[in-house]
Amino acid sequence: MKKKLKIGLVGFGVVGQGLIDVLKESPALDAEVIKICVKNKKERTLPESIFCYSADELINDDNINLIVELISDSQEAYRIVTSALKKGKNVVSANKKMIAENLAELIQLQEQYGVSLLYEASACGSIPVIRNLEEYYDNDLLLSVTGILNGSSNYILSKIFDHNKGYNESLKEAQDLGFAEADPSFDVDGFDSLFKLVILTVHSFGTIVNPKDVLNYGISNISDFDIQYAKEKGYKIKLVGQVEKLEQNKISLFVLPRLVRKDKYIYSVEDEFNGVVIKGLAYDKQFMFGKGAGAHPTGSAVLSDITATGNDYKYEYKKKNNYRDFFYEQSGELEIYLRYKSKEDLAHFNFISISEEYTGSKYNYKIGLIKLKDLITIKDKLRQMDIFIAVTRKTLNY
Ligand code: HSE
Repeated sequence: MKKKLKIGLVGFGVVGQGLIDVLKESPALDAEVIKICVKNKKERTLPESIFCYSADELINDDNINLIVELISDSQEAYRIVTSALKKGKNVVSANKKMIAENLAELIQLQEQYGVSLLYEASACGSIPVIRNLEEYYDNDLLLSVTGILNGSSNYILSKIFDHNKGYNESLKEAQDLGFAEADPSFDVDGFDSLFKLVILTVHSFGTIVNPKDVLNYGISNISDFDIQYAKEKGYKIKLVGQVEKLEQNKISLFVLPRLVRKDKYIYSVEDEFNGVVIKGLAYDKQFMFGKGAGAHPTGSAVLSDITATGNDYKYEYKKKNNYRDFFYEQSGELEIYLRYKSKEDLAHFNFISISEEYTGSKYNYKIGLIKLKDLITIKDKLRQMDIFIAVTRKTLNY
């Protein structure tokens, strides 16, 4: 470690407290939290004198050489992070929405001001997936990154499938345990996974993708009918994000629930754990597994970034800067399970072919091929319909 790290911490929620706890367990690290910026005065686990109420106070404090941003408001996070970078300070952030939506600018600011922005905690909690994609998988062999990227959804699905609990009860537990975001639809509707996937994509293939152009659909509409269907066929339902290399310099990405067979690595990823399958030429598949949410697991990822800035580590964005360009393509087909009630809802789906269908008194379903592009076109309407979609056994067909 070259220099003492004098940290200005912004945010003292679940992850902020987690960071303070894991820092206490790391006496070898020459780092000190100088000030913590919070929104309001209230009784906390640390003395009042360490708190302040303006992030600018930290950014403008010459004694502070590292800003650690751990708040959930992505707009305020953007303001704080960009101001700190422009002030020449290194920054560690866990705000996936802010990072995914502003990647191009954040990369440019790091170059322009010669500073480092690290964000391992923004994707998959304690799993060091970003730094591994950047450093170990720094070649042309990578084919796909597929995984359970959201701890809260996975916790809910685990409780539903393994403990026969209800959706609402399980969501409440995920909130009480500090896994869920302030607005849980961020978790259960696949936005959190989407932002994480966009971040993983730049470190996997060098492509900056606008999250608005990517299909994300989550588990908030799952019904007992869908759960029973999956169980009868020997599947579990998991919320999965995937980025995959296609032919001719193209990549595809999407977030969708998936019917997962027992022989898949992600089948056994339970509770708030995340699991990422990295596929490549020469090495086939590798699997990274670990806690994806919670105070201490996420705090440990922030701690690792803090240490890394102390060692002058920066993301080099090697795929983006040194390799051929990959372009995001909305082409291709998916085989999906669509559970629906009304003909009006069904009319939104242009199936290319149907392999299985069922009509019942309460619900109906169809399994068939559909164009990814067609789903992207109606992605904002999907959540309003009385339907549920999951990718079935077969995935992309290009
Ligand atoms: N709400 C997030 C999750 C927290 O459940 O995965 C970690 O990013």
